[in-house]
Amino acid sequence: SRRVRAVDLAKFKAEGRKIIALTAYHAHTASILDRHCDVILVGDSLGMVMHGLESTLPVTLEMMILQAQAVMRGTAKALVVVDMPFGSYEASREQAFLSAARVLKETGAGAIKLEGGAQFADTVAFLTRRGIPVMGHIGLTPQSVNTMGGFRVQGHKAGDEARLLEDARAISEAGAFAIVMEGIVEPVARAIAASGAVTAATIGIGASAQCDGQILVLEDMLGLSDRAPKFVKAFGSLRDHIEAAVEAYAEEVRSGRFPAEEHTYPPR
Ligand code: KIV
Ligand code: NA
Repeated sequence: SRRVRAVDLAKFKAEGRKIIALTAYHAHTASILDRHCDVILVGDSLGMVMHGLESTLPVTLEMMILQAQAVMRGTAKALVVVDMPFGSYEASREQAFLSAARVLKETGAGAIKLEGGAQFADTVAFLTRRGIPVMGHIGLTPQSVNTMGGFRVQGHKAGDEARLLEDARAISEAGAFAIVMEGIVEPVARAIAASGAVTAATIGIGASAQCDGQILVLEDMLGLSDRAPKFVKAFGSLRDHIEAAVEAYAEEVRSGRFPAEEHTYPPR
């Protein structure tokens, strides 16, 4: 069956069919997700998850392209969306187009994602009109950690609701096919998802069950990350599984029980 396309998400939203999304950075995990997810995001969270960085700011376009190529090779069905890393799209809509076009040309992915609301509506329209489907990302936008003053849940303060609604409306109207809503309090997330002015599919992460779909960082929901935010549910405990397997391996090598005869090439 063909891949999910960016335009399909509008249909899922209209049908009230929840959109299933997760992140992936490599081929083997992506191939498992491909059987269950509509959307696989190659997120710039790979900076933290794969490389142990403190934030997503140092992530480069080359890092994104390399992992997106791996995810494309491991999948056949899901829509693969690639994050535009910090510094690759903000300077101008032309810069954004050149970076995004490079991502699509070199990976074959179906869409890109960029962080930002109303101030990037012009960029979203520029890309969309030139053949690049754009997923927006509003609320807690990790690339803005230095100006936000930390990773802060959005929507508590006076004026937040109006601002976030305007962010969602502006990029939806500019042609974004979906919007990641991250770290947004429930009443505000509900207002955005229910707004007739927001036709883009809303994908929540820490933004309540009111969104049209959900996304989590795979390693967080698998219980592999060493720490995860409050909004993450651990659907697995991979860290414990890996720990136990590595411990058993070390013990068997030490005691000489591994490799056994069945793991050994006999003489001819
Ligand atoms: O980089 C990422 O993983 C993301 C998701 C959390 C939405 O942007
Ligand atoms: Na991201």
